[in-house]
Amino acid sequence: MRLEFLENGPIRVEGARFRLKVGEKEEVLERPRVFLCRCGGSANKPFCDGTHKRIGFQAPGGVLEVED
Ligand code: FES
Repeated sequence: MRLEFLENGPIRVEGARFRLKVGEKEEVLERPRVFLCRCGGSANKPFCDGTHKRIGFQAPGGVLEVED
C-alpha cells in the first residue's frame, strides 16, 4: 500500500476496492483512489472535501509505503 501526502492537502490512497467502517456503518467503495482529510476541516470525514484550501492548511508532501 502506498499513501501519498499531498503538499498542503489530503492523503491520496491508491487502490481499487476499499472497505470503510465508521461507527456502526460499513460500506465498500469501488474507486481507483480515495483522498483522506488531514487538515481536520472536512465536513465529509474521513474524506477530503476541499476545505484545506479555504483554511490555508499547510504541510509538506511525502510518501509512506507499507512493505510486506
Ligand atoms: S485535507 Fe482536504 S479537507 Fe482536509
